[in-house]
Amino acid sequence: MTEQQQRVRVAIVGSGSGTNARALCEHAQHPDAQYDVCLIISTKSGIGIVQVALDFKISCHVAASRETFATELCDALIEHRIDVLLLAGLMRHVPEEVVAAVHGNVLNIHPSLLPSHGGRGMYGVYVHQAVLSAGESHTGATVHLVTNEYDQGRIIAQDSLEIAPGQTPEQLQERVKQLEHALYPRAVDKFCASIRMGDLQD
Ligand code: GRF
Repeated sequence: MTEQQQRVRVAIVGSGSGTNARALCEHAQHPDAQYDVCLIISTKSGIGIVQVALDFKISCHVAASRETFATELCDALIEHRIDVLLLAGLMRHVPEEVVAAVHGNVLNIHPSLLPSHGGRGMYGVYVHQAVLSAGESHTGATVHLVTNEYDQGRIIAQDSLEIAPGQTPEQLQERVKQLEHALYPRAVDKFCASIRMGDLQD
């Protein structure tokens, strides 16, 4: 079996501009990456994350209906033999059966230093407003396992930055996103390498 065939098969699911999805796809092009992006799932058509799928020639599934979201996701994950599901700006709760379909291998990236400023309602610029209102000196991003509770799963990786005086929430959001684009692919690589090690030991 070649190196390429042994890579972990990942899917990315999101609802937005797709800048993290793009960073993950770019990283997968490195010869020593541990994963291949085999599927992108979007909750809307015509948004940034769909364009990422087109740019990288990756299969894309639009799962717009909330009613059939769980079934559509499970079917797509099974059809594309996905090992790991990556959330990147998903604006929906992940149903338990979806987590089970990939044996709990679901990661998310959150734009704060969890456990601070996470949970329901903490998304987009609201996170950065909360960080500034709390008078924090530092903020950052967290990659964590996904469980039934928002932003509560085991932390896999974090990276932080110092907040400059007078920064707006929007400026902070932009700086944190730059961190995310380096942190997420690095954390996914490490996670997938541990999965590959497990496979080799079986
Ligand atoms: C990121 O800030 C991520 O931390 C959060 O949603 C945002 C997605 O942005 N979960 P993008 O679609 O990757 O640009």
